[in-house]
Amino acid sequence: MEVTAAVWVCLLALVIAGGSSSSSVEARKKSLKLDSFEFTGRDCRANVASITDFGGVGDGNTSNTKAFQAAMDSLAKYSAEGGSLLYIPPGRWLTSSFNITSSHFTLYLDQDAVLLAAQVDENEWPVIEPLPSYGRGRDADGGRYSSLIFGTNLTDVVITGANGTLDGQGELWWKKYRAGQLNYTRPYLIELMYSSEIQISNLTLLNSPSWNVHPVYCTNTLVKGLTILAPVTSANTDGINPDSCTNTRIEDCFIVSGDDCVAVKSGWDEYGIAYGMPTKHLVIRRLTCISPFSAAIALGSEMSGGIEDVRAEDITAINTESGVRIKTAVGRGGYVKDIYVRRFTMKTMKWAFWMTGNYGSHPDNNYDPNAIPVVENINYRDMVAENVSMAAKLEGIGGDPFTGICISNVTIGLAEKAKKLQWNCTDIAGVTSSVTPQPCDLLPDQGEKQTSCNFPDDTLAIEEVEAHACSYKLQSSGCDDHIRPIYFRGGLFSFLNISPLQQHILLLLLLVLGIRIELH
Ligand SMILES: *[C@@H]1O[C@H](CO)[C@@H](O)[C@H](O)[C@H]1NC(C)=O
Ligand SMILES: *[C@@H]1O[C@H](CO)[C@@H](O)[C@H](O)[C@H]1NC(C)=O
Ligand SMILES: *[C@@H]1O[C@H](CO)[C@@H](O)[C@H](O)[C@H]1NC(C)=O
Ligand SMILES: *[C@@H]1O[C@H](CO)[C@@H](O)[C@H](O)[C@H]1NC(C)=O
Ligand SMILES: *[C@@H]1O[C@H](CO)[C@@H](O)[C@H](O)[C@H]1NC(C)=O
Ligand SMILES: *[C@@H]1O[C@H](CO)[C@@H](O)[C@H](O)[C@H]1NC(C)=O
Ligand SMILES: *[C@@H]1O[C@H](CO)[C@@H](O)[C@H](O)[C@H]1NC(C)=O
Ligand SMILES: *[C@@H]1O[C@H](CO)[C@@H](O)[C@H](O)[C@H]1NC(C)=O
Ligand SMILES: *[C@@H]1O[C@H](CO)[C@@H](O)[C@H](O)[C@H]1NC(C)=O
Repeated sequence: MEVTAAVWVCLLALVIAGGSSSSSVEARKKSLKLDSFEFTGRDCRANVASITDFGGVGDGNTSNTKAFQAAMDSLAKYSAEGGSLLYIPPGRWLTSSFNITSSHFTLYLDQDAVLLAAQVDENEWPVIEPLPSYGRGRDADGGRYSSLIFGTNLTDVVITGANGTLDGQGELWWKKYRAGQLNYTRPYLIELMYSSEIQISNLTLLNSPSWNVHPVYCTNTLVKGLTILAPVTSANTDGINPDSCTNTRIEDCFIVSGDDCVAVKSGWDEYGIAYGMPTKHLVIRRLTCISPFSAAIALGSEMSGGIEDVRAEDITAINTESGVRIKTAVGRGGYVKDIYVRRFTMKTMKWAFWMTGNYGSHPDNNYDPNAIPVVENINYRDMVAENVSMAAKLEGIGGDPFTGICISNVTIGLAEKAKKLQWNCTDIAGVTSSVTPQPCDLLPDQGEKQTSCNFPDDTLAIEEVEAHACSYKLQSSGCDDHIRPIYFRGGLFSFLNISPLQQHILLLLLLVLGIRIELH
């Protein structure tokens, strides 16, 4: 009896929440252009607001930092009530760092919406603690400027749009960094810490002051459909850096940058060893990268918490220094193991493959000289490269060779001015099969014995995550527009394929029917 009563209360709440427009927020007509939009996420949101509801002005000059913070503070209350979506209309929205403080939250940027990062100003950019696994900022001792969009300890956060833009306006940051005029580490465009069920998709990221997307200590992260652009000479503008994260999927991204397109990390020397959180179960696919001074995919150099089970496929690198590079050093500790890469197309490369155990770059002088990184079980197969200067530069650590390297079915076409020595191998061990030009003696050809290097055929949980489509309509009522959700696919009666209104009527009918049965 008590149980059924509770069920009816829940159903009633559903009807009220679904049918009411009390959660819709008024927005001014002028700022709204589209009359509907759609985003995909793990869940749709019941409460929707526009940045203009919080005093936002998209004129490219007015600061919106306070408007963003006010929006976040206001929407946080919906965290447990169907979640919320903040809509950014067309316009140029100047802002410095703001925090996402709500779980079950979506930030949605219209196609012509640009978040413009404020320029370098110590008073505008809050300084936050260094990451525990790094011990200090990456650019400078001590803390770091909080990222343009920052969030910590969140669940189910979506940052997406109709290819809207985050513009880091990084030029002044790069200049001041190079001139040694910054007191703290530069901000990233997006950083989420200690969070799970993250989606970052369908956006263009321009000119980040430093790294672009940095999920750190996160689980279940989907990064999809990003266009990331920065001058190829800009400092440390890495594309996507999963750092001490478990279950991450990066796909369908196009990246032109001044540093690695994807850089997989897990903490720095003694700090990373002490923190001990690896990056594992990472899928990277359908990535196109242009980065003449860096790699399409880098593993390290900060890898002290360990990197394992990385699966990369269908990658294209054009005018890029190297395809995959593994960077580590004595003092790092940790490991890079169980790495699988296949179907990689490379055009105009300095080195197709690069590994080094001599990367240097330490946070301080307290690193442990006995902390020797382990690099093992590295598999590359089914690759075609053209216009390459040198096939491979593979340099392990004396007394600690990198082992279990397997390369199969790889054809590397050489540049006109290619190096005489195509494979320079030291302190490594492994095998090859059907690889041209002929590999070094440390990677003997298996001939017919081996057909191809491993690539796992199981599917990771993160590969199965699918987004639902959620549609919103900007409704006109009198002189004001309201935005509210009009359709939830994946709702209670979604399998009937009926409209939301019909779903509500059905719910009401069931409710009335139920009450009548109860009364008898
Ligand atoms: C990205 O946008 C496309 C087309 O606009 C849409 O089909 C897709 O579902 C979106 N994906 C995500 C993950 O937001
Ligand atoms: C830009 O903003 C500043 C300060 O907020 C203000 O003084 C200035 O008049 C604004 N300029 C324009 C063109 O709106
Ligand atoms: C964002 O959160 C961090 C950590 O909780 C805090 O240090 C920082 O001051 C917050 N930033 C803003 C703009 O409130
Ligand atoms: C760095 O700190 C110094 C001394 O406090 C200050 O004068 C300078 O403006 C700061 N630099 C930046 C870029 O804010
Ligand atoms: C965030 O999560 C981390 C790891 O679980 C925890 O140590 C930290 O105290 C949490 N921070 C907040 C503000 O809840
Ligand atoms: C998104 O915008 C960027 C920059 O304008 C463009 O290069 C890219 O093709 C666009 N992506 C989509 C899916 O429209
Ligand atoms: C080959 O690579 C060189 C640089 O090593 C570059 O200058 C040249 O344009 C490339 N040629 C082709 C056909 O891409
Ligand atoms: C070798 O790699 C190429 C390029 O990815 C692929 O098309 C081909 O099927 C592979 N051959 C074998 C035997 O796997
Ligand atoms: C080969 O690599 C070793 C170790 O990195 C280096 O010392 C040597 O100079 C390289 N040889 C050539 C010919 O590049």
